[in-house]
Amino acid sequence: MSAPADRRRPTDADHDDETRLDRATSRAVRRRSLALLGNLLRPHARTLSWAAVLVTASTAAQVSGPWLVSLAIDDALPALPDDIAPLAAVGVAYLAAAVLAGVTIGAYRRVAARIAQSVLLELRRRVFRQTQRLSLEFHESYTSGRIISRQTSDLEALRELLDGGLVGVISSILVMLFTAVGLTILDPLSGLVLVSGLVPAWFLVRWFQKHSQVAYREQRTWSARLIVKFVETMTGMRAVQAFNRESTTERDFDRIGEAYRDANLRIFGINGRFAPGLLLIGNMTVVVALAAGGWRVLTGSLAVGVLVAVLLYVKRFFAPIQQIGMFYNAFQSAAAALEKVSGLLAEEPTVVEPVEPVDLPVPRGRLQLDHVRFAYGDGPVVLPDLDLTIPAGQTVALVGTTGAGKSTIAKLVTRFYDATSGRVLVDGVNIRDIASPVLRRNVVMVTQEAYLFSGSVAENIALGRPDATREEIEAAARAVGAHEFVTNLPDGYDTEVNKRGGRVSAGQRQLLSFARAFLADPTVLVLDEATSSLDLPGERLVQRGLQTLLADRTAIIIAHRLSTVEIADRVLVLAHGAIVEDGSPDELVSRGGRFAAMHGAWQDSLV
Ligand SMILES: Nc1ncnc2c1ncn2[C@@H]1O[C@H](COP(=O)(O)OP(=O)(O)O)[C@@H](O)[C@H]1O
Ligand SMILES: [Mg+2]
Repeated sequence: MSAPADRRRPTDADHDDETRLDRATSRAVRRRSLALLGNLLRPHARTLSWAAVLVTASTAAQVSGPWLVSLAIDDALPALPDDIAPLAAVGVAYLAAAVLAGVTIGAYRRVAARIAQSVLLELRRRVFRQTQRLSLEFHESYTSGRIISRQTSDLEALRELLDGGLVGVISSILVMLFTAVGLTILDPLSGLVLVSGLVPAWFLVRWFQKHSQVAYREQRTWSARLIVKFVETMTGMRAVQAFNRESTTERDFDRIGEAYRDANLRIFGINGRFAPGLLLIGNMTVVVALAAGGWRVLTGSLAVGVLVAVLLYVKRFFAPIQQIGMFYNAFQSAAAALEKVSGLLAEEPTVVEPVEPVDLPVPRGRLQLDHVRFAYGDGPVVLPDLDLTIPAGQTVALVGTTGAGKSTIAKLVTRFYDATSGRVLVDGVNIRDIASPVLRRNVVMVTQEAYLFSGSVAENIALGRPDATREEIEAAARAVGAHEFVTNLPDGYDTEVNKRGGRVSAGQRQLLSFARAFLADPTVLVLDEATSSLDLPGERLVQRGLQTLLADRTAIIIAHRLSTVEIADRVLVLAHGAIVEDGSPDELVSRGGRFAAMHGAWQDSLV
């Protein structure tokens, strides 16, 4: 979706072009995620500079330690016992530096953590807001699993980076830098020894990065597969058990679990070579520095105190490398996560709000589809050219085979999608010009899913009109025939749905969504297979409820069940996105077309 529009199919001759394009794309992606990062950090600019001051002060204080030790050995100790002032001064300075280092590093960590946490919260909010803002088109193409991983594992990767390391790694890098500089000033020759130790360390770090990157990617892939397999099996449990698939799924799960274990072991193997390797290089460098320094002490060209300081510096220098190397992986996955999250945040809703919304005059509910043509994205044309007028107050039944385009019409009339060309009008106003709160109040769609949110039955009915009174809620439930079963629930209207005792059947859920629609009282109501789960014994009740629901408003009902269709004023038969029959149920039956055939089959099934 976000790929460049002019992207051609790659051929061999195009290959260079392709790579250049990919490189340009990945550069754009990196720019996008850096821009997001900058945008998130900008409000914290002052706190960030405060954190920088704190960490610099702390590092300077830490690095002064070995230098003070060298002063103590070379200058203060020889002055003893005649003059204890130098030693006292060095001791006090050492203590002050230690206190300063501790206090400032503590403050730095608190400040940095506060920044990290508020950046994470802001990002979490933005991802949530964005997923609600994006149109249905996005949600139907971007799988919910992917959105879930943006909100969970991607933000988790960023949290791990920010909570568990970044703050420490920044101070480690500074310590290394200050140590190297301090050492070189103190004794340039030992600085050279340090740099020579850095060469093998550099190669080891590169080796580690290369291998661990592959291993970590493998680990993430297998862990994702493990989750997918588990979720798929659990959600499809009925099918798994009905078709006796337990042993196959178990075998698959075992295989993935073993691969995941192996990937984890590989990571431990790599870490297990990296850490001791670094330790060895660090200690070897200390040995070389000791040998070279010891020789110079013997020849009198180096003071003993300086040698001690040199050794302390060299030892300290190598300690953080391991942490930084390990951190590299957290950094990589956080960078990848940030790229994905920034991609989600860059998406724009395909259904856009009108800049200058037009007011709906007293809504009556006359619906017009004016030469509507529609295709999903670049897919095949679903509705070639639909021209249709539904007078206010009419109940229209839309029938046709699966895939004919019925739900697509429902989504266009309710503006979950915009027509590719042509117009959809409500009372003569193009729905693209109606502000979405006004449109959503007047045009409501009820689907098969009839989703219930956690909360009470009453709250669920009042979803479309949260200010409704208890009387209004009960009246709505009565009108659609839901009152009786609700009063039989353990706590009546206060029963918590989706909890023990509050479990309602699919049919009852649909009745609740009828009550919800009745209470919302829209001018135009679209029911997309919203009666499919209602059982036959309840049918008469449902028919009555449905009739109450549909009275005094324009309605489009999409239903398989012909008893539902019979209450319609008008039937439209859809085939391949075109209306092939249009008339009252009786007319169509007597005309003897597709609807008559469906009707005949239904009549036969009743006897
Ligand atoms: N979100 C979508 N993206 C791409 N194609 C879709 C989408 N929804 C439906 N289609 C396609 O559009 C056609 C009409 O679908 P639909 O309107 O759902 O049919 P009906 O409700 O009549 O069964 C089908 O060929 C279907 O595959
Ligand atoms: Mg459908």
